[in-house]
Amino acid sequence: RFERLWFAASLVLIVAFLGTIVYGAVGPGVAMVDDSGGTVEPSVIANGDYEAADNFREPGVYDTESGVDVYVVARQYLFQPGTTEPIRVPAGEPVTFHVTSPDVTHGFNLAGTNVNSMVIPGQVAEFTVTFEETDEHGIVCHEYCGSGHHTMEGKVVVV
Ligand code: CUA
Repeated sequence: RFERLWFAASLVLIVAFLGTIVYGAVGPGVAMVDDSGGTVEPSVIANGDYEAADNFREPGVYDTESGVDVYVVARQYLFQPGTTEPIRVPAGEPVTFHVTSPDVTHGFNLAGTNVNSMVIPGQVAEFTVTFEETDEHGIVCHEYCGSGHHTMEGKVVVV
C-alpha cells in the first residue's frame, strides 16, 4: 500500500533533479566564454567591478582596512601570483581571494583548508578565509583545463 507513496516521492525527486539541471544550465552566474587564448581583459569581467578589474591588471596582495585582498589570475597553466612566486598573506586576519580566468575553467583548491572554488572565465570567484596559524598551503587546480592541468599548482604562505 506504500507503493503509490514511493512512486510519488520518486517522481518528485526526478522533477527536482531535472530542475537543478535546467537551473544549472540556464541560471544566472554562468556564462560560457570562448577560449580566445588571449591576455586578461579585466574590462570584460561580467559584473562590471572596475576596482577588481584594475587590480587584476596587477594581480597580487592588497592591504585593506581589516585584512588583505588577494587578486589571482588562474590561467593555463599557472596561478598569478602563486606559481612562480608564493602568495604571502598574514595569519589571524581575513583574507579575501578574488580569482578569475582569462581562458578556461580552472579550480582553486587550498590544500589543508576548506577553500575550494571553481574559477570560471569572465567571472570572479570570491571567498574570505582567516588562517589561524602560519603555514604553507599548496594551491591545486582541480578542474581539468588542458594538457598541463596536472602541473598547475602554486603556494600560499601564511606568515
Ligand atoms: Cu587549471 Cu586544471
